Amino acid sequence: MKYFVTGAAGFIGSNYVRHVLATTDHEVTVYDALTYAGNLSTMKDMSDDSRFSFVQGNICDPAAVEAAMKGHDVVVHFAAESHVDRSISGADDFILTNCYGTNVIVDTARRLEMQRVLHIGTDEVYGSVEVGSSLETDPLEPRSPYSASKAGSDLIALSYYSTHKTPVVVTRCTNNFGPYQYPEKAIPLFVTNLMDGGKIPLYGDGLNERDWLLVDDHCTGIQLVLEKGNLGEIYNIGAGNETANRVLVDKILDVMGKDESSVQYVEDRKGHDRRYSVNIDKITKLGWKKKRSLDEALLETVKWYQDNRWWWEPLKKAK
Ligand SMILES: NC(=O)c1ccc[n+]([C@@H]2O[C@H](COP(=O)([O-])OP(=O)(O)OC[C@H]3O[C@@H](n4cnc5c(N)ncnc54)[C@H](O)[C@@H]3O)[C@@H](O)[C@H]2O)c1
Repeated sequence: MKYFVTGAAGFIGSNYVRHVLATTDHEVTVYDALTYAGNLSTMKDMSDDSRFSFVQGNICDPAAVEAAMKGHDVVVHFAAESHVDRSISGADDFILTNCYGTNVIVDTARRLEMQRVLHIGTDEVYGSVEVGSSLETDPLEPRSPYSASKAGSDLIALSYYSTHKTPVVVTRCTNNFGPYQYPEKAIPLFVTNLMDGGKIPLYGDGLNERDWLLVDDHCTGIQLVLEKGNLGEIYNIGAGNETANRVLVDKILDVMGKDESSVQYVEDRKGHDRRYSVNIDKITKLGWKKKRSLDEALLETVKWYQDNRWWWEPLKKAK
């Protein structure tokens, strides 16, 4: 089969393509605009694989998307503006890429009669969940321009199933971490700051909770939903690792042999959602299970950033 994967010069998409090349015989074309978050260095280890190819292009350009997607069987759509803080300082690119760009991808997939289209969503669309865990059927209450644009993109993608029977499936995952995550996101930022003798900036009172999912575990979930998920449906993917930021920071300090003096409390993010948590009964029934505990996964991830300064240092300097 031929996979067309958008946004895989970024964090999760590149890990997913690595997973597909390692575990299947499929061919993969990555389609990515190479924004600040997408980098050729992120795909360097895959570029010599004869089953891998790369096309630079914007998902908001229908003609370019059509030319590149033609001849493929399956679409996996990661491309998005993904950083909440950036959506707070300026939301236009988020609405354009995440909503309009998703429409271009799914509409092109409809016209080209793709066998399956998997759209990657986020748990942030459910809004702040003080207690319990969100079901796929829960109402959407996004509270940042990022999560609102992602909620819009989910609904746009699903509307193609209802209207045209385009074979769309949607996943909604929790906060990912692992190799090749752009060093503006929490875990790589914290780890690389500590490596350079800097501090961890901790928002507000540090008690906001996130469910930390190792990207490898997320990738196996994506592949399972792609192969076995019901069309027109949504699948939450989470690790059950709901952890206060303060606790996560303590774990990282511990792994890296640092102490409280390396933490700096900073002004809270505007409209900062207190907690996210998803119910994963549906994907569990499909046969998915995470492979690593949070502590094991954090150890591996810290080691990856320690061993791969060549990858993150130029990106951090260019910020
Ligand atoms: N990282 C997380 O914790 C997380 C959690 C839940 C959901 N998600 C979702 O997963 C997907 C991937 O997230 P990520 O963390 O890998 O993001 P990322 O920011 O690391 O990568 C995004 C990629 O999309 C590309 N891109 C952006 N705009 C584009 C455009 N207009 N045309 C073509 N390519 C474009 C970028 O160049 C980059 O390579 C996103 O849809 C995101 O909303 C991420």
